[in-house]
Amino acid sequence: MKTLEAIKTWRSTRRFLDKPVEKEKLEAILEAVLRAPSWANTQCWRLILVEDLVMKQKLSELSYVESFFARIQYKSNPAQKGIVQAPMVILLCADPASSGKIWEKEYYMTDAGIASQNLMLAAHSLGLGTVFVGVFDEEKIRSLLQIPEGIRIVGLFPVGYPADVGEVRPRKSLGEIVFSEKWGASF
Ligand SMILES: Cc1cc2nc3c(=O)[nH]c(=O)nc-3n(C[C@H](O)[C@H](O)[C@H](O)COP(=O)(O)O)c2cc1C
Repeated sequence: MKTLEAIKTWRSTRRFLDKPVEKEKLEAILEAVLRAPSWANTQCWRLILVEDLVMKQKLSELSYVESFFARIQYKSNPAQKGIVQAPMVILLCADPASSGKIWEKEYYMTDAGIASQNLMLAAHSLGLGTVFVGVFDEEKIRSLLQIPEGIRIVGLFPVGYPADVGEVRPRKSLGEIVFSEKWGASF
């Protein structure tokens, strides 16, 4: 699949088939992460691959944070079931100490975000599905997977073959997000 086609047809997958991901496809996804640009090429990301069912169940449970969901429209994290169903969950972590910081802007989240998008588009272009899961109990997952203090857990990505292919979700119009020459001037 061409890059622009992958971007245009992207949609998050939260339901997965009981079908393993081929080793070559997994390697292609990991290679796509490896190729992401980063602050001064510091590559602050680290990945953990979780396939063990009990561990996936624990990660799913830890992707519900009561204090967060109490104040939004969702009663639970819509990705929870998918975390168990998917044959594999990729945890994307980042080390803030090895990325850049300038004028209080820390770039480790940017680096990790770009790597995340590479991961998601690579999976999608190979016929797989995934979703960025950003709501989880970071400290409990840290302790579960023995992640050192200081390393941030940026996202959980259940990866597998989609059980349903949903509609591409709407986005704002270009007129809402693009200005011409100065802020607020219509495009
Ligand atoms: C930083 C970030 C965090 C997210 N966290 C979650 C999450 O915890 N659970 C979930 O089901 N989806 C999560 N999503 C997926 C978004 O809800 C989804 O990308 C958005 O609604 C647009 O839908 P689409 O990806 O199908 O186009 C997250 C996406 C991003 C970029």
